[in-house]
Formats: sequence, structure tokens, C-alpha cells
Amino acid sequence: MIKPDAVANGHTGAILNDIIAGGFKIVAMKYIQLSEVNAGKFYEVHKERPFYGDLVNFMSSGPIVAAILEKDNAVEDFRTLIGATDPSKASEGTIRSKYAKSIDANAIHGSDSDENAEIEGGFFFSQFERF
Ligand code: GTP
Ligand code: MG
Repeated sequence: MIKPDAVANGHTGAILNDIIAGGFKIVAMKYIQLSEVNAGKFYEVHKERPFYGDLVNFMSSGPIVAAILEKDNAVEDFRTLIGATDPSKASEGTIRSKYAKSIDANAIHGSDSDENAEIEGGFFFSQFERF
């Protein structure tokens, strides 16, 4: 997901360029705004964390770009491409280093396992929306 801050700040095109240049194929993509309820469901694993409420508010605050990406070793390589959760700790040249301002508004989300990538892909897309 390209998060609301990066979309609002006009970074969608640059981020998609970085993703494609990084060797990822776009399998599915849509431009939508999450309701609070759906943002809460998406981040349900973080329900007990102190920042959960802020995270849900932020993720439902504006439109996002959701996508399914394909590549060998995609999960690990994508997390390398996006950089650390806290953009001030993200390596130079990573998406969060270039386009994120803070740990809560950190420009982009990447799945943390193949299993979660399948679950999160299913959250946004039907089988007819994947190419
Ligand atoms: P995602 O790709 O968005 O899942 O980020 P991540 O995997 O790098 O981090 P994690 O799953 O641990 O946390 C999910 C999101 O919660 C992060 O992207 C941040 O936006 C937010 N978050 C994580 N830790 C903190 C924190 O300490 N404070 C605040 N305000 N937000 C946090
Ligand atoms: Mg995560």
C-alpha cells in the first residue's frame, strides 16, 4: 500500500517508478480510501499496540494505492526497497527514506511474510482483479 501521506504529498508516481525499477511486476492495483472499520481490520494484528488507534485513523484519513506485487523473494526484497519502519533509520535511497516524514506517516506498507501477503492481497482484490 502507498499510504495516505505519500498519496497526498504527490509521491504516488515516483514510488510506483521505484517499485517497477526494483524489478516488481504489478499483478493488481487500485486507488481507494479505507473506512476506519476496514483499516482496523487490516491492522488487526497490532490491536494491542499503543499506536493502534492513531494508525487506524491515519490509514483511513485519505486515499491509498493498494497493489499486489510479484517477484522472486518478493517479501524480503520489497522490505529492503522500502527501508526501516522509522524513516529516520531507513537506509539512503529507500522509499521511506525518500518519501516518508515520520514513523506513523511512513509512506508505504509491505507484507511481512508470504502468508500475510496472500491474506492482505485477498483483503483488497478478487481473483478477477489479478493479472
Ligand atoms: P507496515 O509495512 O506498515 O506494516 O510497517 P512495518 O512492518 O515496517 O511496521 P509494523 O508492522 O511493526 O507497524 C505497522 C505500522 O504501525 C508502521 O508502518 C507504522 O506506521 C506504525 N507504527 C509502528 N511502530 C510505531 C510506533 O512506535 N509509533 C507509531 N506512532 N506508529 C508506529
Ligand atoms: Mg508490518
